[in-house]
Amino acid sequence: MTTRTSASADVRASTTAPESRATFTSHLGVIAATLGSAIGLGNIWKFPSLTGTNGGAAFLITYLFATLLVGLPVMIAEISIGRTIRADPITGLRRLAPRQVWWVIGAMGIVSSFLIMAFYTEVVGWVLAFIVAAATGQLQTTSPETLGAHFAQQIGDPAQSILWQWVVLAIVSGIIAFGVTKGIEATTKRLLPILFGLLVLIGIRSLMLPGAGQGLAFLFVPDFSKVTPAVILAALGLAFFKLSLGMGAMMTYGSYFRNDQNIPGTATRVMLADLLVSLLAGVAIFPAVFSFGFEPQAGPALLFITLPAVFAAIPFGQVLLVLFFVLAAIAAVGAMLSMIEVPITSLMGMLGWDRRRATVATLVGLVLFGAPAALSNSVLANAKLFGKTPFDLYDFLTSNLLLPLGGLLICVFVGWFWGLDQFAAALGNPPGQPSALTKALFVLLRFVSPILLVIVLINGLIPA
Ligand code: PHE
Repeated sequence: MTTRTSASADVRASTTAPESRATFTSHLGVIAATLGSAIGLGNIWKFPSLTGTNGGAAFLITYLFATLLVGLPVMIAEISIGRTIRADPITGLRRLAPRQVWWVIGAMGIVSSFLIMAFYTEVVGWVLAFIVAAATGQLQTTSPETLGAHFAQQIGDPAQSILWQWVVLAIVSGIIAFGVTKGIEATTKRLLPILFGLLVLIGIRSLMLPGAGQGLAFLFVPDFSKVTPAVILAALGLAFFKLSLGMGAMMTYGSYFRNDQNIPGTATRVMLADLLVSLLAGVAIFPAVFSFGFEPQAGPALLFITLPAVFAAIPFGQVLLVLFFVLAAIAAVGAMLSMIEVPITSLMGMLGWDRRRATVATLVGLVLFGAPAALSNSVLANAKLFGKTPFDLYDFLTSNLLLPLGGLLICVFVGWFWGLDQFAAALGNPPGQPSALTKALFVLLRFVSPILLVIVLINGLIPA
């Protein structure tokens, strides 16, 4: 019944005047939803593995610069466009710039959303499977070989991979069917405090281990000789993925922002809180890894092989490991809600569908798109295009091409098409009086971020 009520409210919101589009109901709700989108496997899976493979603290600092110079300005730009259009990205950009092609930002976003969801849901599927494995004691061994074999078997089983992906899709679409307020806002508000609590708990436990200082030094004492162009690129890519930029997710959430919401303030808070979660994940993982003499360079295996080995050696490690995977799953929910909302709101806005129909159609699309990613380590392990399995290809296409390109177009749109006055108006500055902050952001968006993004794009396209 609730579903029906909120679904019809959303239909009204999307088909009538822009003012009646659903919005987040409180400042806290806005922060929760936006932060919920930013926080995800990016913090718990990508951040530690990239930090581990790219030299620790030096990578962290590079990533900080990328976030400040590119991430934050693009995030503010994307949200401000969203709040101005108060529609799905395609419909809104068409209205804002008739007879021009800026709507491709929205179209590309839908493609990105499907591609990211396809591999993201698969990784969340592994996380769910690992919750079960950890809870039933299957991961209670300190042998990386045994754990490696377990992981290989898990991702190499086609039926299991598909089924876990469907479980994830079912959960996410179940939540999103409740709509913007009762689905997205209510869920993220409840889950985020649990997430912070769990992370702090595991972090404290990890810090109490003998030799924890080495892990902290790895994370916080930089060795700048480690900063190579490749490291800078990885940091820029992560900054983008982390803040959910360049695919219309933040634009869509911006369209639910209240008019009195301070966009730069909100974006900055979200950026800082997201960073805090990444740092907490680092503090939870690296001291433990060093304490037990493991290598921090394990990459993606860090979460699924190294970490279980580390936890197996700690008192109460099994409970903590279960908690850690639960936490990863919780973090992923808000991120997936924002990804899936992009095609859903677009279908509602462009075809006039109700939320339920749009959700079902998107779900069918995701089952189809997701299957190749799910089968990438089994049936389709040899079905490679450009030397990449579908899973890797989806990841590569989005992080190295579509997201930076989307971000670049957003910078060019605001910096060169919209101009300072419109941007200032979108941020709620008084007419004709752009604030100093707005001006500084505008300079970043017009010159600095696009140049950096072009560098990312060019390098991302050159095969390593
Ligand atoms: N920011 C999310 C994370 O860190 C991923 C994401 C990317 C979400 C793009 C939405 C859009 O996991």
